[in-house]
Amino acid sequence: MTGMRIGILTGGGDCPGLNAVIRAVVLSAGRLHGDEIVGFVDGWRGVLDNKSVQLDEERCRDIVQLGGTILGTSRTNPFVSSDGPGQVVRTLTSNNLDAIIAIGGEDTLGVADRLAAHGVKAVGIPKTIDNDLSETEFTFGFDTAVQIATDAVDRLRTTAESHHRVIVCEVMGRHAGWIAAYAGIAGGAAEILVPEIPFEVGEVCERLERRHAGGQFSSIVVVSEGAHPAEGPEADEARHATASETVDAFGHARLGGIGEWLARQIERRTGFEARTTILGHVQRGGTPTARDRVLATRFGVEAVAAVHDADFGMMVALRDGNIVRVPISAATRVPKTLDLTLMDVAAALTG
Ligand code: F6P
Repeated sequence: MTGMRIGILTGGGDCPGLNAVIRAVVLSAGRLHGDEIVGFVDGWRGVLDNKSVQLDEERCRDIVQLGGTILGTSRTNPFVSSDGPGQVVRTLTSNNLDAIIAIGGEDTLGVADRLAAHGVKAVGIPKTIDNDLSETEFTFGFDTAVQIATDAVDRLRTTAESHHRVIVCEVMGRHAGWIAAYAGIAGGAAEILVPEIPFEVGEVCERLERRHAGGQFSSIVVVSEGAHPAEGPEADEARHATASETVDAFGHARLGGIGEWLARQIERRTGFEARTTILGHVQRGGTPTARDRVLATRFGVEAVAAVHDADFGMMVALRDGNIVRVPISAATRVPKTLDLTLMDVAAALTG
């Protein structure tokens, strides 16, 4: 069997399930097609620097359950320098690669899509804990992040009850409220605040006061890192308190801080003692759930099949429970924001 030589990379923020997908690509490519897989280290950085490792079955033994990525990752954008795309092409050519499989979110896959104009043959695999990629119902990594956040909410509840406190739990998700909505519903939070629905601090406090007047003496508020108050002086104040100078190579600001700002507001306005927990990178680390391992594995096998069908410029995706192929350009054009019917469900139960 004479196979192809296929490059693979993991880019952007890591997430649980990346090693499961690497393993699926290596094993299915080798066993079904006799392919060789070349792994670039640290995302597009490794392609620019021509730094790679040969991936085989031996290297992929016992990694399906492992968090992180054995290849490393970075938020490198080859389009930041004018010669970046040329350098990518030189690396792929010098390694005799027939195609590259890019595993990433909107940024990493957006690069793969733009590189098509330079002759790069790429297939994309969607990953991100944020679940904010369009054209796929779920990305792997999300399920694990939600489980971690839900476990945290469960734990916060018992300490909040003991001390009769409000605990604000800030979760990741960038500008999409998927993690907050799922973990908030699963954890029975009193309030769930997401970027898609700007909140009124006064209304949040009134609802908490009503709840406590009704006999509840503690509350969990789940707030997404990208959530913000509706326009007005509070929005300006919150923006100021959470502003970050740091932007990555794709122009994204580092988010964080809304939880602490909100806890201070709640304490000042209601008199309830309030604390904040920022879950941060805990949500990205450690063992993937079985659901994420299976989704990652299905994606990996389908991506190899797409390469063999010369279906370049496509991303594997989940639709109605099936693995399908969609254009990377459609998946990366606009982020997939939260399905707001979830907030209707939440509204029926929160408070
Ligand atoms: O996109 C995944 C994500 O974890 C976001 O939820 C978060 O805003 C961001 O990455 C954090 O990035 P970094 O790991 O660079 O701090």
